[in-house]
Amino acid sequence: MKVLVATEKPFAAVAVDSIRKVIEDAGYELELLEKYPSREELLAAVADADALIVRSDKADAEVIAAAKKLKVIVRAGAGYDNIDLAAATAAGICVENTPGQNSNAVAELVFGMAVMAARNMYDGTSGSELKEKKIGIHAFGQVGRNVARIAKGFGMEVCALDPFCPDESMKAAGVNPVHSVNELYSENSIVSIHIPATAETKGSIGYDLITSLPKGGILINTARKEVIDEEGLKKALEDRQDIRYLSDIKPDNAAELSSLFGSRVFFTPKKMGAQTSEANINAGIAAARQVVAFLKDGVDKYRVNK
Ligand code: 3PG
Repeated sequence: MKVLVATEKPFAAVAVDSIRKVIEDAGYELELLEKYPSREELLAAVADADALIVRSDKADAEVIAAAKKLKVIVRAGAGYDNIDLAAATAAGICVENTPGQNSNAVAELVFGMAVMAARNMYDGTSGSELKEKKIGIHAFGQVGRNVARIAKGFGMEVCALDPFCPDESMKAAGVNPVHSVNELYSENSIVSIHIPATAETKGSIGYDLITSLPKGGILINTARKEVIDEEGLKKALEDRQDIRYLSDIKPDNAAELSSLFGSRVFFTPKKMGAQTSEANINAGIAAARQVVAFLKDGVDKYRVNK
């Protein structure tokens, strides 16, 4: 059986070695397709694959149609908005993710960006500290929980919004639950976004929420660009000269925002929240083990298209 690892943004070499070992020890063949220049390579490679491991690589209906032998797709990571679940389900393919495996890496990047913003992008002027500041965590999943843990280390006051998470669970983590998005944005000088991109969340963070941030507000997005209403963001940055936006996922209007707002906006050149060797090893090995468990024993604990 062939397991295809297709990563436009490759895993660290040490992670690839570990993935290979898991796959080959199980008696399967590993094909590695890294930094592929076009979809044609992916479409050709997936044609005889029994299993597919991806990161943010698009496994859409065309890829799924080309994958005649495919039985399982594992997204080595959390968000699976890059996979056409309906097409996979219709083709009888199991889709899984590897929740939690890269969450610390993403959470650490939040603070890389928070400190950079608080210190005025290291421009030499006098900035501010995170200690005793308020941070609002928009969704208290695996990344949000790690953000809370680190924020407490900085001595911050932490609150979070998550309709799917009981208040008691937040309180046990020393986090104040809030129950409306308006409260989250208007009462925290730093807001960190961790919601997935779904039909309900796309474009849901726009002008009103962003301009409700307190004076000097910093909005950090390590989730998905799609959750931002980009025109609303632009107008908010125009009307509120004190607000800053830092994102690990370039918005479509990144060049315009950078030229209009200079160092009040910051975008990583490529999504790099999960781009650490530790996260690559964790998510990569978990994905490889899940593939083997599915192919050998039908185990589908992390299936997302039930
Ligand atoms: C995720 O959903 O796991 C993160 O956004 C990381 O995505 P990546 O594997 O493309 O870096």
